[in-house]
Amino acid sequence: MEKIHSLTGMNDLIGHKTSKDDLAERIFYTEEILRDIFESYSISEIRTPALESSSLFERSVGDASDIVNKELYSFQDKNEKSITLRPEGTASVIRSVIEKKLDNDTHKLWYLGPMWRYERPQKGRYRQFNQAGIEILGYPEGLAELEIVSIICSINNALGIEKPVLKINHLGNNETKQNYCKALEDFLIPLSSKLDTKDLERLNKNPLRVLDSKNLDTQAILKDGPKIIDYLSEDAISILNTIKDTYSNDCDIEIDHNLVRGLDYYTGFVFEAVSSSLGAQDSYIGGGRYDELCKQLGGKSLPAIGMAIGIERLASLAKTYKDNRTMVSFIILSSNIEPKAYKIAHNLRSINDLINIDVQLSDGSLKSKLRRANKDNAAYALIIGEDELKSKKIIVKPLLEKNSEQVTLSLEEINSFIKQLK
Ligand code: HAM
Repeated sequence: MEKIHSLTGMNDLIGHKTSKDDLAERIFYTEEILRDIFESYSISEIRTPALESSSLFERSVGDASDIVNKELYSFQDKNEKSITLRPEGTASVIRSVIEKKLDNDTHKLWYLGPMWRYERPQKGRYRQFNQAGIEILGYPEGLAELEIVSIICSINNALGIEKPVLKINHLGNNETKQNYCKALEDFLIPLSSKLDTKDLERLNKNPLRVLDSKNLDTQAILKDGPKIIDYLSEDAISILNTIKDTYSNDCDIEIDHNLVRGLDYYTGFVFEAVSSSLGAQDSYIGGGRYDELCKQLGGKSLPAIGMAIGIERLASLAKTYKDNRTMVSFIILSSNIEPKAYKIAHNLRSINDLINIDVQLSDGSLKSKLRRANKDNAAYALIIGEDELKSKKIIVKPLLEKNSEQVTLSLEEINSFIKQLK
């Protein structure tokens, strides 16, 4: 029979007791820290469906982007409607806000979940990956920019990220963007015979994206081309300098006028957090302002700024991953007493919810169960057999401290023992 494999670029995340590595555990831990940070900024959670109408992404992420051009997972449903697995979260959030008629107010929203892009998989680049995102809606340029960068600094700090650099740029307002794009076109069109097909396509659809080219010949041509800084207003340059000055003690911030981002909806401030420890796929957060998107999707005019975090990339950078809850392995020695002994473990759980109690469910010798407890890094084994149950006692065997002896405690003493564990 043909073997069934997971699809290319799609990973299973399996908890540390079953998996051979701690990748999944790092990811779960990272997600927990992110949730705490988002809540501490008083941001509310939003969950949108994984599937949306294909037109949502075509009209938002944009047909000049690689995502829409070649990376969408799009299908016809049974009704022959074109539907797409979301490649990112921003478009869905705005769709939802418009649909629920919330586009006349301010909102701070976060989300976390899988996204799908049909990319060529490599280290740090998957076809199904997880993103946590934030969208701050209804606030014009200013304080919202400072808040977004503050959140990035908090994330770097909480997870002990190695060598973080925040690249920032400003794409100007619509008028600046149009003037700059026109100048870029006027400069590049006479040189089009020197551009590769990909850059020519970018020049036709969205000239700004040529700045993002990986082709070294194109980069050499651009050196003599128009620079966005010459088209930016004083306010735009000043917001970049304010951000750099405000957070200079917290984060290495670089102003990079070639940073344009790969999605079409951006206007104004844009950024990417990168770390050289990640290798080729070095960006672990990306985002920016997108003041036109809500109106473009049929809603009211709603200024907006947001970002998304690549969870796999962030988790691989996290230095502070620690599973520091005390683990207690509960060993029942006879199948005759299982329900009564299990009830004792059940009651112990309600005494202290800061510890993990693992009741070993399988049959087996005490030796094999203690081996399992050691493998799971349990601090204590609680052992109960027929004699202990009859005399209402439990044996406590310390597993981490070499010189500690096991003791037998009454049920009341066990309650106090469990209560004081941290
Ligand atoms: P993005 O730059 O396309 O932005 O993605 C954000 C982050 O998701 C990237 O920096 C990266 O860490 C991660 N990522 C993207 N593609 C992959 C992949 N194939 N495998 C692993 N990780 C990946 C957005 O998605 C925008 N929606 C961000 C935003 C929110 N802008 C405004 N609001």
